[in-house]
Amino acid sequence: MLRLSFLISLMCLVRSDTDEECPSFTKLSFHSAVVGTGLNVKLMLYTRRNPTCAQAINSTALGNLNMTKKTTFIVHGFRPTGSPPVWIGDLVEGLLSVEDMNVVVVDWNRGATTVIYNHASSKTRKVAIVLKEFIDQMLAGEASLDDIYMIGVSLGAHIAGFVGKMYNGQLGRITGLDPAGPLFNGKPPEDRLDPGDAQFIDVIHSDIDALGYKEPLGNIDFYPNGGLDQPGCPQTIFGGMQYFKCDHQRSVYLYLSSLRENCTITAYPCDSYRDYRNGKCVSCGTPQTQSCPILGYYADNWKDYLREKDPPTTKAFFDTAEEKPFCSECISLLCGYYNLEQEHKKRIHNNQIERQSWKYHRIQNQSFTGCDFRKDGGQRPHLEILRNSRGNCSYTRRNTHPAKLSPQHFRNTTK
Ligand SMILES: *[C@@H]1O[C@H](CO)[C@@H](O)[C@H](O)[C@H]1NC(C)=O
Ligand SMILES: *[C@@H]1O[C@H](CO)[C@@H](O)[C@H](O)[C@H]1NC(C)=O
Ligand SMILES: *[C@@H]1O[C@H](CO)[C@@H](O)[C@H](O)[C@H]1NC(C)=O
Ligand SMILES: *[C@@H]1O[C@H](CO)[C@@H](O)[C@H](O)[C@H]1NC(C)=O
Ligand SMILES: *[C@@H]1O[C@H](CO)[C@@H](O)[C@H](O)[C@H]1NC(C)=O
Repeated sequence: MLRLSFLISLMCLVRSDTDEECPSFTKLSFHSAVVGTGLNVKLMLYTRRNPTCAQAINSTALGNLNMTKKTTFIVHGFRPTGSPPVWIGDLVEGLLSVEDMNVVVVDWNRGATTVIYNHASSKTRKVAIVLKEFIDQMLAGEASLDDIYMIGVSLGAHIAGFVGKMYNGQLGRITGLDPAGPLFNGKPPEDRLDPGDAQFIDVIHSDIDALGYKEPLGNIDFYPNGGLDQPGCPQTIFGGMQYFKCDHQRSVYLYLSSLRENCTITAYPCDSYRDYRNGKCVSCGTPQTQSCPILGYYADNWKDYLREKDPPTTKAFFDTAEEKPFCSECISLLCGYYNLEQEHKKRIHNNQIERQSWKYHRIQNQSFTGCDFRKDGGQRPHLEILRNSRGNCSYTRRNTHPAKLSPQHFRNTTK
C-alpha cells in the first residue's frame, strides 16, 4: 500500500514535471496597449537549480525559493507596446552568474501595458502591496529583510520604493534604474523612491531630460555621461523607437555590464557633471581613504561609507563608451587649457605659438589631481580620452581647437 502510494506520487511528480511548461513573461499585443489592461502580478522564480525555466510562485507555493539566500526582485516599468522587456533574460542570467540567489521576476505586464502612462503609473502602489504580501510570507519563514534586494526599472524603481516604505526602510537594498520622472518629478518623498526606503539605495540616472528622474533618490546616484544624452543613442526622431527609449534603457545595460567580471565602471563623486568634466573630481577625496565607487551590482561595497555621510547621499559621474561593454578602464579625462586672449592674438596659422598655449596633464591613474584650470573662464577641457575594456583608446575633441594636433601627438602624451 505504502509502496503503491509512493509510486503514484512519483508518477504525479514526473507528470507535473513534464506537463508544466516553463511560464514565461506575459506577452501582449499593441491592441491590449490601446484598450488598456487590468492589473495582474505574476511572480516568476529563477535559481541556479532552474536558471532558464522559471517557476510560477506565490505566497503559498514558493517553488525552489531558498529563504536563507538573498532574494532579488526585478521590477519592470511602463510597457507602452505590451512586449516583454528585452533585457529580462540577460539580467536573470547575470545575477545568477554572480551569486547563488533567488531571482524573482515581477511580471506586471498586465497593468503596465497601456498607451496611457498615467494608467500604468496609477498601478504602482497596488503592485507594491502585492509584493509586500509575498515578502511577508517569506518573512514568516526563514527569510530576513536584510537579504531582500529589489531592482526597479523606471516605474519599477518607485514600486520598489513603495515596498521599502512599508518596511520602514529595513529592506536590504534597492537599485533604481533610471527611475521614472514624469508624474514623479517634484513629488514629496512619500510619493516616490527616497533614500530612506532601504538600508542602501543606488540609482543610475541615464535620461534625466525625458523619461528619467533628475534629482538624487538614493544613497548614491550615478549619472553616466552627465545623465542626459547617452553616447550611441539616436539624437533625432529618425532613430525610431530607439530615439525614445535608448537613453532610458541605457541604465539597465550599464547595470548589466557590472555583472560581467571584465567590465568595471568607476564613478567619481562630484557636485556636478561640469565639475567632473573640468577634472575637479578625478580622485575620491583627500586623503584618499576610499577608492572610488563602482557602478552596478557591487556598488553596495561602499554602503557603510556612503551611509555615514551627512546627508547620506552622493552624486557620482563618469563617462562611458557608446556600446557594450561601456566600461572605460581609465579616467576618461585628459585636460588641458588654453588662454582665449592669447588665442585671439596669435591664432593665425602660427602653429608654434598656438601649441605653446596648450598644456597637457598626464593621466596618472586615480592619483591624477585634476586639471589646472584658471578661473578667468578662458580655459576649457579640450580633449577626452576614453579607453574601453579592450584597451582601445578613442579620442574625442571637445571643441574645435585642438584639431591641429594629430592623434599621434596624443598617443605620445598618454603612453
Ligand atoms: C499558487 O500557485 C499554485 C501553483 O502554481 C496554485 O495551485 C495556487 O492556486 C496558487 N495560489 C494562489 C493563492 O494564487
Ligand atoms: C538553502 O541554502 C543553504 C545555504 O544558503 C543551504 O545550506 C541549504 O541546503 C539550501 N536548502 C535547500 C533546500 O537547497
Ligand atoms: C567579457 O566577458 C564577457 C562574458 O562574461 C565576454 O562575452 C566578453 O567577450 C568579455 N570581453 C572581454 C574584452 O574580455
Ligand atoms: C596604473 O594602474 C596600473 C594597474 O592598476 C598599474 O600597473 C600602474 O603601475 C599604474 N600606474 C601608475 C602611474 O600608477
Ligand atoms: C580600436 O578601435 C578602432 C575603431 O573602433 C579599430 O579600427 C581598431 O582596430 C581598434 N584597435 C584595437 C587595438 O583594437
